[in-house]
Amino acid sequence: MNSTMCHFWGVFFLALLYCVNASVLNNEIDSPVCFKDGFLFGVATAAYQIEGAWNVSGKGVSIWDKLTHEEPEKIFDHSNGDIADGSYYKVKEDVRLIKELGVSLYRFSVSWPRILPNGLSYKINEDGIRYYNEVIDELIRNNITPAITIFHWDLPQYLRDMGGWTNALMADFMVEYSRILFENFGDRVKIWMTFNEPLTFCQLSDYAGADNPEGSGIKSYLCGHNVIRAHGMVYRMFEEEYRPKIGGEMGIVISYAWEEPYSDSEEDQAAAERARNFQFGWFAHPIFSEAGDYPPIMRSVVDKNSKEQGFPNSRLPSFTPGEVKMIKGSADFLGLNHYTTRLVQQVPKNNSNPTSENDINVKQIIDEKWPKTGSSWLSVVPWGFRKTLNWLKLAYNNPKILVTENGMSTGPGLDDKKRIEYIDGYLRSLHDAVYEDGCNVVGYTYWSLMDNFEWKRGYSDNNTSPVRLPAMLDGRSDKGRK
Ligand SMILES: *[C@@H]1O[C@H](CO)[C@@H](O)[C@H](O)[C@H]1NC(C)=O
Ligand SMILES: *[C@@H]1O[C@H](CO)[C@@H](O)[C@H](O)[C@H]1NC(C)=O
Ligand SMILES: *[C@@H]1O[C@H](CO)[C@@H](O)[C@H](O)[C@H]1NC(C)=O
Repeated sequence: MNSTMCHFWGVFFLALLYCVNASVLNNEIDSPVCFKDGFLFGVATAAYQIEGAWNVSGKGVSIWDKLTHEEPEKIFDHSNGDIADGSYYKVKEDVRLIKELGVSLYRFSVSWPRILPNGLSYKINEDGIRYYNEVIDELIRNNITPAITIFHWDLPQYLRDMGGWTNALMADFMVEYSRILFENFGDRVKIWMTFNEPLTFCQLSDYAGADNPEGSGIKSYLCGHNVIRAHGMVYRMFEEEYRPKIGGEMGIVISYAWEEPYSDSEEDQAAAERARNFQFGWFAHPIFSEAGDYPPIMRSVVDKNSKEQGFPNSRLPSFTPGEVKMIKGSADFLGLNHYTTRLVQQVPKNNSNPTSENDINVKQIIDEKWPKTGSSWLSVVPWGFRKTLNWLKLAYNNPKILVTENGMSTGPGLDDKKRIEYIDGYLRSLHDAVYEDGCNVVGYTYWSLMDNFEWKRGYSDNNTSPVRLPAMLDGRSDKGRK
């Protein structure tokens, strides 16, 4: 850890116990709640946010290397991940930190350009294979289960130059890259996640390698389409070629901020359900629903709006019947990133621009009464977690869920009282969802193991004002996610 770095996200003072114990919280809170044996607790990171060593030993250039070096003004504090937490050099130290927390699972991502310098599979960087082998072996030696995210946003620049995720061939490149990971690490890694938060990287500029104009209702849908196809193709390849030999489970990580109707009005109820389908269902429905394909509401709204806007075809691409079938059921578990909740209100329709904002047609509001954190988009709303899990149970026939991220940032300093309260509240809500409502959640992963490079917020994600709304509708340029 770089000593100049402030501590906003890490879990330094977190006693992540199987029982959430009231005594750490001045006895203000109810009695302890306990999770049963076998429930997994873990922590997570992502390659670009922690590794550093951006230009050593044959690693290629990622879109984040290029962006932070060439357009530092796009990063809140003009920083970059050149050094970050130095995890490339600190395998033993990182694993010791995980061990000291007492958790049994570590979710980390592989840097695509560290394995394949230009993203294509004809040239493998052996040093990349060596590094992740060391991480995996050190985890296993310490009885910590490795869980790999295959793509967590650091796309090889070479692939961005070919259109990034708007290029349909990206699905093939992703399959070839994934194959190399299964070949080299599949004997020891049994938990795989294809993508982290496609909603985020398909919508924000500079994240998808797609030069996505903010708010586009064209490129973001293309990106999502190729990502969903890529996910299905990687899963089927894994299922057919690797699982019979080496076992393992595979899922996809989708973010879901709970969307609560602003009022009891029918309009707001419908607006909230529409937003859930556009923001979560977009990626989940094709994979986890019984029918497959995009959520019907998304299909009908975008088709209709496209027509009114003069497009000969819908801006939302269509899967072939074969693709619908290939994608449906292509996951053993759902990876859920859940941080916060928003209120959703119906707004008057304005169809003059072909944007996804117009397609969703809602306004999202952060209730001023909700406790704030170091990130403007993240307020503390534990009950939203239980509602999210119950919605998933109902919508997708109680899928197996691994909570892949949950957590909060604080201002500078090491006083973690607010973080302890956040975790306490969210774990209690999770506990109710699992043991009272019967939601099929198998584990909980805290974001993050340690403070790190927070994408466009750099090392400074503590800005609390003015309140700017994240997601599709507002304030996206400084969203500052994980
Ligand atoms: C790698 O990048 C660092 C800056 O982070 C620079 O000082 C160094 O010279 C670079 N090394 C090579 C081999 O290009
Ligand atoms: C609809 O959006 C367009 C483009 O953003 C804007 O110029 C126009 O004023 C808006 N119309 C209404 C009724 O808000
Ligand atoms: C945020 O962090 C910066 C240092 O990175 C500090 O100067 C500033 O006071 C902090 N702001 C808040 C609201 O905590």
